[in-house]
Amino acid sequence: MDTIFLCLPLFLALYIFTNHFLRKIRNLPPSPILNLPVLGHLHLIKKPLHRGLAKISDRYGPVLLLDFGSRPVLLVSSPSAAEECLHKHDIIFANRPHLMAGKYIGYNYTSLVWSSYGDHWRNLRKISSLQILSSHRLQMLQGIRVDEVKLMLKGLFSASKDGKKVDIKTVFFELMLNVMMRMIAGKRYYGENVEEVEEAKRFREIVTETMRMGGASNMGDFLPVLRWLKVGKVEKNLKALQKKRDRFMQELIKGFRSENTEIGGGAGETGEKKKTLIQVLLTLQQKEPEYYKDEIIKSLMLVLLAAGTDTSMGTMEWALSLMLNNPSTLKKAQAEIDTIIGKERLLDESDVANLPYLRCIISETLRMYPPGPLLVPHESSEECVVGGYRVPRGTMLLVNLWAIQNDSKIWEEPRKFKPERFEGVEGTRDGYKWMPFGSGRRGCPGEGLAMRMVGFGLGSVIQCFDWERIGEELVDMTEGPGLTMPKAQSLRANCRPRPGMLNRLSQ
Ligand code: HEM
Repeated sequence: MDTIFLCLPLFLALYIFTNHFLRKIRNLPPSPILNLPVLGHLHLIKKPLHRGLAKISDRYGPVLLLDFGSRPVLLVSSPSAAEECLHKHDIIFANRPHLMAGKYIGYNYTSLVWSSYGDHWRNLRKISSLQILSSHRLQMLQGIRVDEVKLMLKGLFSASKDGKKVDIKTVFFELMLNVMMRMIAGKRYYGENVEEVEEAKRFREIVTETMRMGGASNMGDFLPVLRWLKVGKVEKNLKALQKKRDRFMQELIKGFRSENTEIGGGAGETGEKKKTLIQVLLTLQQKEPEYYKDEIIKSLMLVLLAAGTDTSMGTMEWALSLMLNNPSTLKKAQAEIDTIIGKERLLDESDVANLPYLRCIISETLRMYPPGPLLVPHESSEECVVGGYRVPRGTMLLVNLWAIQNDSKIWEEPRKFKPERFEGVEGTRDGYKWMPFGSGRRGCPGEGLAMRMVGFGLGSVIQCFDWERIGEELVDMTEGPGLTMPKAQSLRANCRPRPGMLNRLSQ
């Protein structure tokens, strides 16, 4: 027994050095030498993941091959390496790895976010781009966004009259969720005018649970032994939640099958029917029932809700937090709005194009706090070369966007909030050093909607209210756990209507 214990460190050292040596011979990308059996490099990774991985890249280089348990992971953290993966090898890296999230949230890897690159993904992408997120559709549904922003301002106005501190996260969350659900199902699920109270309550519980579970780390993705032994509750909880969510969405579809409602909500009439997403997809189902099964409809509903809500809401919350900690930027944004729009009318979605400083604020927020700090994981479908190294087929790719966008070799004083750095280039992708929506085939199809909503929502609360921190202390900017980089502490602040805006708000 003693001999075994004495030999163990020796075997371990032998394993580590042989492994390291073999990797060099095979021209694989470098990696930290402490690659343990079973765990691989997992023991080196600290949370939050984007920061933990950035530290490893700082030490070992911008192109690394790590072992997350049994899964090889290519970690890139420089613009040139990102370009190689997302441009030169765009098709090779257009697959997604099979992770638990894709199984239980992505309808067994068939949803738009989680499906492999191929005809099915191309078709879903086409439907979402043409029928849901195209400029034409977004224009047609502008009335929903105008309604919802007005309701948000009304809510803030009443809260400010009562002297209440505002929970900003909830305000922006309700805004985004109501916009998305009105596009999907034609109904509000938060606040006033909720049609079916019980249904809305059930929906909110499901959304809250989905957000909580979305941030849970699934070690079973990397250590299959944990899944076989059924250790941990993550998979069980994901499964149960998927059942609940699926039942809810199936009921929504059933409701639409039996009626033919339009969604209402105002502007942009072209005579064309303003159908909800469910109606659009049910029409396609009638034409091609074999392909447009209910599963596809539900997966698209879920993707838009999950990908569209948290990301935009978080960006608005981070932006306001940054401005509260840097009040001169808030003043400058208000001055721009006063000069260009004035106080005679409320800001409109189309005004955002004429507010460059507001767009600089959004670009700078997305630089410092990108909601997809590691993008969504990609996977290589064949062997390729990145940074001069051989990357085997089936390698998971993580692009550390956060590290690139906060790298002091690329950005001057990267942790300082300086919207001015984007003057003249606000909102346009700058090579691969600023790409909060990703790039290439799997890049975000919701960018148009997101930029409209963030600009409109944020611009409106800045135009109508003066904002102050609660107390003297700076807003806590710690990042919380979760895939979309939420704030650890939700933002609470004081607001009061700006002089000259009272009439507009009380109308
Ligand atoms: C994918 C960012 C809002 C729908 C992504 C990716 C990023 C991203 C980084 C991954 C790209 C990659 O893997 O290479 C953002 C940001 C948003 C936002 C920063 C808001 C500020 C939205 C909205 C929608 C949306 C509003 C739709 C309603 C999607 C979908 C994908 C995606 C469907 C997966 C695309 C695919 O795999 O083919 N987004 N997103 N996103 N986003 Fe967004």
